[in-house]
Amino acid sequence: MSSDNTDISYDPADHYDRVMEAWALLLGAELHYGVFDSPDQPLVPATAQLTNLMIEGAQLEAGLRLLDVGCGSGAQACQLVEDFDIEVLGITTSQVGIDESTARAKSRGITGATFELRDATANGLPDNSFDRVWALESSHLMPNREAFVAEAARVLRPGGRFVMCDVVRLRDIPFAELRERRDEFALLRAAYGSARMEPIEFYADQARANGLVVDQVIDLSEPTYPTFQRWRENLELHREAVTPALGEQGVDEFDRSLAVLEGLWSENTLGYALLSASAPA
Ligand SMILES: C[S@@+](CC[C@H](N)C(=O)[O-])C[C@H]1O[C@@H](n2cnc3c(N)ncnc32)[C@H](O)[C@@H]1O
Repeated sequence: MSSDNTDISYDPADHYDRVMEAWALLLGAELHYGVFDSPDQPLVPATAQLTNLMIEGAQLEAGLRLLDVGCGSGAQACQLVEDFDIEVLGITTSQVGIDESTARAKSRGITGATFELRDATANGLPDNSFDRVWALESSHLMPNREAFVAEAARVLRPGGRFVMCDVVRLRDIPFAELRERRDEFALLRAAYGSARMEPIEFYADQARANGLVVDQVIDLSEPTYPTFQRWRENLELHREAVTPALGEQGVDEFDRSLAVLEGLWSENTLGYALLSASAPA
């Protein structure tokens, strides 16, 4: 039995609505892991580096229409419109995320980025309506990852590209081990919400099953590892500011979760990967 069977209650919308403000202080405006050149590099250039790898995978050109799946607080959507002169629709299940994203775009005078409350596993968008589908660290939060990839492929135009990155599972976790380590996994759920990690090969297989051609899979497990220490440092800096939103218990859970994640990374149970694929022209 794999960790795929460990899922519990699913409500990422509720989770993100609750944590977004505090997480901006802990994780930064870009709500994702960093890719570090060295263990002591600051977080902001490292999160930017992960976004840059996504940009390379997406092969952006002016005038394209991109769907940002799990748009967070709109940081990447705004950046992509400004830097590449493309049009972006950001979707998320978090109303707080929509409000923050919309405010961010408005404050920067960006009209090419719009945001809608939509579930990526049944997005309701027309077939063949995007040149790029981009999912930066959102897939692990979806209970139905097959539907997520199928929807991504469905809305892509022929010749379009799909690019995603996320926390991934590097090995099967036997049921006995899951049971033994249930406190660790419960702590991660408390800190990050319900998540189901898949191997990156799972996403590659789903992409192929939906007619896409996978052209790149990058293992980023090692360069993402320093992320946890940067989050720990941010927690020390902002402990007082984030406590009203997260609560004493939430702060403690976030703090303790970092050592758990470092352990899972070090033993090659969890890691991080990026995948890009194209829709045949
Ligand atoms: C770790 S954050 C990443 C945000 C952003 N991509 C970034 O890197 O800054 C995960 C995002 O996925 C969104 N999300 C979770 N489940 C979703 C779903 N089923 N459909 C759309 N978005 C979802 C969350 O609301 C959140 O915005």
